[in-house]
Amino acid sequence: MIASAPGKVIVFGEHSVVYGKHAVVSAIDLRCYVKAEKSGEVRITSSFGTTGYDFAGKHAYISHAIRRFSEVCEVGGVEVEVRSDIPPASGLGSSAAVTVATLGALNAEFNAGLGREEIFELARKVELDVQGIGSGTDPFVSTFGGSWVLPEKRRFHTDLEFEVIDSGETSVTAEMVRRVRELRDAYPDVILPVLDAMDAIAVRGAEALERNDIAEVSRLFRMNQSLLRAIGVSTPEIDRIVARVEEAGYSAKITGAGGGGCVLTTGMGEMRISLSAEGVRVEDFEDWGSADN
Ligand code: MEV
Repeated sequence: MIASAPGKVIVFGEHSVVYGKHAVVSAIDLRCYVKAEKSGEVRITSSFGTTGYDFAGKHAYISHAIRRFSEVCEVGGVEVEVRSDIPPASGLGSSAAVTVATLGALNAEFNAGLGREEIFELARKVELDVQGIGSGTDPFVSTFGGSWVLPEKRRFHTDLEFEVIDSGETSVTAEMVRRVRELRDAYPDVILPVLDAMDAIAVRGAEALERNDIAEVSRLFRMNQSLLRAIGVSTPEIDRIVARVEEAGYSAKITGAGGGGCVLTTGMGEMRISLSAEGVRVEDFEDWGSADN
């Protein structure tokens, strides 16, 4: 069976959401597709190659997903194959999407009857198994789809559209989250107010998005990017991209963990993204022949 799950953008609130602050997030129209087929052994194939269980390597999220799933449903062995539209390690939630899509495909293949809430709980555990740290935001959005204000879990709608520019630099989310925590521990008097300011931006940002107020979203993007820079998650390349976008009269900010990855912009982007994509779903094609990716 084949299941898919969407990537995501954090419009406001990356990093501060780890400390219980508000975040504004949306599933996007780039998806990860996973095919699961019962088999005598565990075999995982993706663009990174083919492995068995690979808990510490390129297939860490998938391996942990199979292990977590097998705690709730017996899995003798399974062949898992991945095809993803989402660039890896670039802030668009590819790790959560592959985790959620794997759980969705296993759920369908083994007839486990898990609902979205249970898939999310397992995906949340996988995030912690692999990263040791994380807010659960990415698996949440990838599972349920749509656009959300967290931690309230309030759905919202906007007609605004955004674009992304990939800095071409990859980064490891857990590493970035740890760096921010170290900075907070070393400079609590500086960093705690910054996290509070990010919280205020996310609250105002949600309101501006719902009013489709692009001028206000633009202002808040600029403020948020300056604060992300203050907590050390921007890079010289991202700063250059942001400067170019601003010179052209638009706004841009990091989306996701930073340290590279993608920049979300109000214009000048390389790729337009649609928000509010559907969450995890079983596909009605049974082989890749009819996949649209
Ligand atoms: C990563 O997409 C978002 C971060 O806030 C980490 C997290 O929430 O787990 C940087």
